[in-house]
Amino acid sequence: MPSMNAKQRAAAEALKYVRSDMVLGLGSGSTSECFIIALGEAFQSGKFSNLRCVPTSVQVENLARKYSLPIIRLEECGVVDLAVDGADEIDPRLNLIKGLGAALIREKIIEQNSRRFICIADSSKLVQKLGTKGPLPVEVIPFAHQTHEAFFHSLGGTPRLRSREDGSPFVSDNGNYIYHLTFSEGITSPQDLDRKLHSRAGIVGTGLFISMAEMAIIATESDIRILHHR
Ligand code: 5RP
Repeated sequence: MPSMNAKQRAAAEALKYVRSDMVLGLGSGSTSECFIIALGEAFQSGKFSNLRCVPTSVQVENLARKYSLPIIRLEECGVVDLAVDGADEIDPRLNLIKGLGAALIREKIIEQNSRRFICIADSSKLVQKLGTKGPLPVEVIPFAHQTHEAFFHSLGGTPRLRSREDGSPFVSDNGNYIYHLTFSEGITSPQDLDRKLHSRAGIVGTGLFISMAEMAIIATESDIRILHHR
């Protein structure tokens, strides 16, 4: 068997928390895809029965269907037993930045309706302070979206509208636009920033996932660490 990279190792560890009869939330991004592949292979080999999966994006839904994983809508099940998803940044309190894969809103809706949310990542995602490695994604409705830019600046963030290769705005699975906010000194108070962003009409949601992950499985090429929310 070929050796596993860190993302695959984190995904394989998360598989240990899956049981037959569970409703699973499937995250988006390359680490989550490693989990879906491992889950799909285990499911096809008969290791689990009666799984139902709630995907956080069209892309992972298509991947799950390749393995014949049963797909269910969140409205049909109401509650997810276990969500497994990656992150872009993870701080020591297990607060996260997510959404560079553009699935932040569906991920947050599914994860806030999950009994357990396990974050899986390679160790490059660990930070002391959120916002120090990459931008914070913020999803907005297209209407008058340019008017948010001054507001983002007033919060200390430098906004850039996510765009496609041809320069047109990137459109999320929800039909919205996404701004990436860069904070030169990182994000001092994620809770405060999240509250301010949510108070503005036209902003649909942010990539700040505060106190949502119960644990994080952090892998390197050679070891695995389990971090717990505190
Ligand atoms: C998608 C996400 C992803 O979980 C995040 O971007 C991490 O992706 P990757 O596992 O490819 O590094 O939030 O919206």
